Amino acid sequence: QIERRVNELLKKMTLPEKLGQLVQYNTSGTTSAATTAGPNGQAAPQGEQLNAMQLAERGLIGSLLNVGGQAQVTAYQHAAVDKSRLHIPLLTGADVLHGYRTGYPIPLGVAASFDPDLGASLARMAAEEATPSGIRWFYAPMVDISRDARWGRTAEGSGEDAYLGSAMARAYVHGFQGDRLDDPQSVAASVKHFAAYGAAEAGREYNTTDMSDSRLRQDYLPPYKAAVDAGAVTLMSAFNALNGVPATANPYLLDTILRKEWGFDGFVVSDDRAIVELINHGVALDPATAAQKAINAGVEVDMRGHVYDAELPALVRSGRVSLSTIDEAVRRVLRVKFALGLFEHPYPTGAEVTAAVPEHRVLVRKAAEESFVLLQNKPANGIPALPLRANAKIALIGPMADTRDVQGAWGGGRGEDSITIRKGLEEWAAGHGGSVVYARGTEVESVSDAGFAEAEEAARQADVVVLVLGESGGLSGEAAARAHIDLPGNQQQLIDRISSLGKPVVMVLFSGRPLVLTPVVNKVDAILEVWFPGTEAGHAVARVLYGEVSPSGKLPMSFPQTEGQEPLYYNQLPTGRPARDANLNVRGDGAAHWLSRYIDAPNAALFPFGFGLSYTQFGYSDVTLSRQSLPMREAVAGAKSLVIAKVTVTNTGKAPATEVTQCYVGNVGASLEQPIRSLKGFVRVTLAPGESKEISFPLGFEELSFFDNAGHQLVEPSMYNVWIGGDSLAASHGEFQITR
Ligand code: IFM
Repeated sequence: QIERRVNELLKKMTLPEKLGQLVQYNTSGTTSAATTAGPNGQAAPQGEQLNAMQLAERGLIGSLLNVGGQAQVTAYQHAAVDKSRLHIPLLTGADVLHGYRTGYPIPLGVAASFDPDLGASLARMAAEEATPSGIRWFYAPMVDISRDARWGRTAEGSGEDAYLGSAMARAYVHGFQGDRLDDPQSVAASVKHFAAYGAAEAGREYNTTDMSDSRLRQDYLPPYKAAVDAGAVTLMSAFNALNGVPATANPYLLDTILRKEWGFDGFVVSDDRAIVELINHGVALDPATAAQKAINAGVEVDMRGHVYDAELPALVRSGRVSLSTIDEAVRRVLRVKFALGLFEHPYPTGAEVTAAVPEHRVLVRKAAEESFVLLQNKPANGIPALPLRANAKIALIGPMADTRDVQGAWGGGRGEDSITIRKGLEEWAAGHGGSVVYARGTEVESVSDAGFAEAEEAARQADVVVLVLGESGGLSGEAAARAHIDLPGNQQQLIDRISSLGKPVVMVLFSGRPLVLTPVVNKVDAILEVWFPGTEAGHAVARVLYGEVSPSGKLPMSFPQTEGQEPLYYNQLPTGRPARDANLNVRGDGAAHWLSRYIDAPNAALFPFGFGLSYTQFGYSDVTLSRQSLPMREAVAGAKSLVIAKVTVTNTGKAPATEVTQCYVGNVGASLEQPIRSLKGFVRVTLAPGESKEISFPLGFEELSFFDNAGHQLVEPSMYNVWIGGDSLAASHGEFQITR
């Protein structure tokens, strides 16, 4: 049905109208496209300047970026649908990464929940909030794997692991696109940024990436693939080059892998002006060549670059770009518009959501609570610092304690709707006989210690100090790479001063990335990583600090001892000279010296991937496996549940809590080095004190296979290790083999 409609429409289109579908601008300011096409799809006087509205009226623009609400979308849609010759509706997109008006945690925080169902619900909520404003296309999910905490955009993705990243990618696509894409409350996902943007060298924004095909396919591509398999209808090409070929002009990524191997039939939009930036990349001498390379590689839509509209007419006339390439590109764009039902209902309807929705606050608060990771909870005077006593006298100190800057990069939630940490704690304390005294202490990036004395005075009067520190929202996200990923400004000095007073100190940490906490871990009793929690920040933090909810989040990225360890990730490949003790960092003689390690820092993370404490403890039984060996002939593509790994997890402590049980697999003896262990399953399990549960992890071809450097996914006879536990250092172990 859709294909027939696409082809019928395509037959009616002039070349300028076809090219218009490949053009995108935003609405702010004038577009001033020097177009060569005029009304009714005919040629216009050379150099005529048209703004986006005029382009829409003439059918010379296909989509709009970051539109400003129902009235504006309606006006543009009216121009396109009622005034243009072929009545083709516009596709209107926006960066809705973690909430439209009711803000949920940054995606790195949502990933820490290890709860894809939660991710799907949040995504659906965002779609339902955004669609009445006319947004039918999200530039999300951001699924770039990042193993380098210096990169600012780690905040927007699901962390360092391909398995977790794939689960979250799938969930977001299901949430955004819903059961039916043509439901007016569904949005088209734009999976970004294809591909390997998160591997930018040295974590520097927009930098180049270089990696083997095996690593690309095994560690970086799976989340994009998972999103495509889940039905994502658009992708965004990345800013970076991969192995010397910019992703925006990369036929290997866009054609060989995406279209031919994965069967993707939607369209690819460039990142913002990335096509014209091919000139900066040094692979095009002029805009015409940039346009030619991008469209021929498989980028259908030019985001704000002003090269497709300016250059494609001549490129088609000269034969440098074939008409069949243009037709195929237009077909892909129209396919998505038909699939969204835009031709049937182009105009946004329903009440626009302009503020956080009360019923949605419950969901985003739950999401925030699940996203928090308890990194440390040492006993202070014999009692763990957390949870706080309800009637405790609290000194609340720090630059992030009384700020509405709780949304993080690309946050849609509004400051005025956001609950500060101070408000959340004060409300709680007032209702439970406790008290809170607040002192700011310092600013996020300040060097002045003018506020220290007041903070110390507040701390002296208190039973416990809650320090709310970390990064402000602008210190992570796009173009926010940091070479030093410690606590900014003089926050560390503030900790020094407060901790010397001898009171129990709880640190609540805001960040869009793992930070180096080595200098402060021994100065505070408890550390709760809260990322950027979103609209319900203060309520969620209060409920967790006071023990209404036990923390259950686990790290989606390794926290380094020092930035010198970056890129740091748990699923390392082996070396010929492994340092058996990852914590060894003394310079020495003899055998211990000639090992793969640093002489001035450990290899181990300060807090490893998958790690997170709760207010109880969990115990694990030995791992049992359904079989010890299986023949190669059974391990064929698609085989599921070849071996079942089982473990019993028990809540051995005193509080009800949720544990994320994780299954790691590694194999040795294959023709390529394999990671020592990789995540291959996880389950959230809620247990009352003393309660036990058996958890099973079916391991099939997907979990046991690897990629070679020729793009094949295969298993080989080898020995498999399985570990199950509460983090990536899980010790309960079993092994089996695949035999010839
Ligand atoms: O979607 C974003 C992308 O992630 C970074 N550059 C701008 C795009 C559109 O706003």
